[in-house]
Amino acid sequence: MNEPLPDLKIALEAARKGVKTIKEFKNKKLNTREKGHHDLVTDADFATEAAVLKIIRNHFPEDEILAEETEAHEKLTDARTWIVDPIDGTTNFAHDFPVYCVSVALWEGKQPKVGVVIEVNRNEEFTAVAGEGAFLNGEKISVSDTSSPRDAFLGTGFPYNDLSLVEPYLNLFRHLMDEAQGIRRPGAATFDLCCVASGRFDGFFEYSLQPWDVAAASLIVREAGGLVSDWEGGDDWLFGERLIAGNPSIHKMLKERIDQFIPEPQRRALIKK
Ligand code: IPD
Ligand code: CA
Ligand code: CA
Repeated sequence: MNEPLPDLKIALEAARKGVKTIKEFKNKKLNTREKGHHDLVTDADFATEAAVLKIIRNHFPEDEILAEETEAHEKLTDARTWIVDPIDGTTNFAHDFPVYCVSVALWEGKQPKVGVVIEVNRNEEFTAVAGEGAFLNGEKISVSDTSSPRDAFLGTGFPYNDLSLVEPYLNLFRHLMDEAQGIRRPGAATFDLCCVASGRFDGFFEYSLQPWDVAAASLIVREAGGLVSDWEGGDDWLFGERLIAGNPSIHKMLKERIDQFIPEPQRRALIKK
């Protein structure tokens, strides 16, 4: 791989430092608490966020920050903004279940410019720069070419605390269990999306996601040739809490199934949020 561009270089440096910080907690007793219903946070989340942000602030003191544990807010300006999830998959991490990631994104003009997601246990580094393609450990990746719904291997997530759509969501699952090849819930949305980017999953959908869950990995999906949208097929997926990603065929199929099983009137409360 050529020498990474400066923003990517710093994003990678920060994410790698995040991974190192998480690993330092491996054999320590973790302080864990619930910040919301079923929504865990540990001292590793705070330490990792601090380590990642320190590197970003050292290099880019003027840039804005949106980070899950200490810099969460609900707006994005046109300015350069780093969007950070220090541990995506905290529940997995707290239970020593091996899927959790550090996610670092740079947005500017309300568009994603750089995305880095590192899965800690497999040390898989997913990277993308807008217009430059997507990579896993320096090798170019692309979405799958599966087009038949019955061959589709899908990822999804279960909401932690917003259960407002659970009944229609379960009906959708019931249908997809029969129609698709398989559905998985790894427990880290950043990883789910990177699995779409690398062709492991053909598609992914979830609701109740936050900007730091999707800011980096959605760029990686797009740069790998995939589509990312909200459930209406539009662009309200960063703050919109409802997302579909996939190769173009399976993205279309998932949008149709969501329209069928969770029609718009049922999801209106989510859209207005
Ligand atoms: C969570 C994970 C999970 C998703 C949740 C997220 P966290 O992030 O991405 O897969 O289902 O909605 O909140 O809390 O572990 O950073
Ligand atoms: Ca997350
Ligand atoms: Ca997190």
